Amino acid sequence: MSIRNDCLLKILRGNPSNRTPIWIMRQAGRYLPEYKKLRQKTGDFLQLCKTPELACKTTLMPIARFDLDAAIIFSDILVVPEAMGMPLKFEENKGPIFEKPIKTEKDFNNLQFPPLEENLAFTLKAIELTKLELNNSIPLIGFCGSPWTLACYMIEGGTSKNFEKIFRMMYDQPNLLLKILDKLTSILTEYLKLQLKYGADVLMIFDTWGGILPYPRYREFSLEFNQKIISSLNQLNIPNIFFSKGAFNHIDDIVKANPSCIGIDWMSSLENAQKIVGNKSAIQGNLDPSILLSEGTVVKEETKKMLDQVNAGTRYVVNLGHGITPDAKPKNVEILIETVRNYK
Ligand code: CP3
Repeated sequence: MSIRNDCLLKILRGNPSNRTPIWIMRQAGRYLPEYKKLRQKTGDFLQLCKTPELACKTTLMPIARFDLDAAIIFSDILVVPEAMGMPLKFEENKGPIFEKPIKTEKDFNNLQFPPLEENLAFTLKAIELTKLELNNSIPLIGFCGSPWTLACYMIEGGTSKNFEKIFRMMYDQPNLLLKILDKLTSILTEYLKLQLKYGADVLMIFDTWGGILPYPRYREFSLEFNQKIISSLNQLNIPNIFFSKGAFNHIDDIVKANPSCIGIDWMSSLENAQKIVGNKSAIQGNLDPSILLSEGTVVKEETKKMLDQVNAGTRYVVNLGHGITPDAKPKNVEILIETVRNYK
């Protein structure tokens, strides 16, 4: 079935579009009052992810409010390690916690290659439900974390400041870390293919922590594995988006990995990105998420400045340079979209 508003798919596939696509990373999250209300009623964030009807409902919240060109399924990157046998909880103001982080070879050997279609059935079911509800109006984005980014949480045990545990493993036991990354790569590839089977139209890899790697290690510990995943998706001709935060230094190599679209963070230059990427991939970004905390006039001005940088012919997707933050004003999202729609 073809999708009525397919401007995002066109841009990702390298076809012309007279509408510039816009969607927002983390668009279904905590800045929306209706989300906060549902979240309060449900109590636990993971429980929301694990109840397909509610995950579907949450996915659709920003779509009902705003004129967006894609939906992204409501889930989390950390449901994958949980499915592999690592108990996960989210604590208020602390974020995610793995009680038994991976420390040794033995911990690694205890990680399962789970039956994903069963263990992650809740997200797959949510995709299926959301596709029905969207009724081919706009595309649905499925996603996963990158192997490196998931390994950060699995080894650190949660959000980290200095990432000392994973760096120690990288220097002292590189083979153990490479084995973890390799296993994650197989599992994530299969998981993305399942999301496709259940109805996702576009697949995205969040390499949130790629940019913390020392320059000479980025390729070996992050990009190499992401490249494998991207190449599996390309073989199936599935449009994909790769976002590696803080990794602009490596954009030449990222282009060689050949994703349909490269996410650009707000610290990087959109102009330089266009020069380097050319037409080989689309680029997505890169408004500073903090602009959405500001006044409407600022949002309008900054959005225009960003659009002014985009050359005619660039395969371009409007987005923030990272996820929208909990204090963002919904009204500002509206102004951002309106500015994009009215831009000539
Ligand atoms: O984009 C969307 O609307 C889809 C939903 C989505 C969530 N997490 C929901 C969520 C997506 C795409 C993610 C990905 C994710 N999860 C990433 C990579 C994305 C990025 O921005 O780089 C990461 C690093 C995680 C792990 C994670 N999940 C952390 C560190 C936290 C706690 C900190 C935080 O931002 O709240 C979460 C929780 C989380 N994931 C929330 C939501 C809506 C907040 C939960 C709540 O308190 O209600």
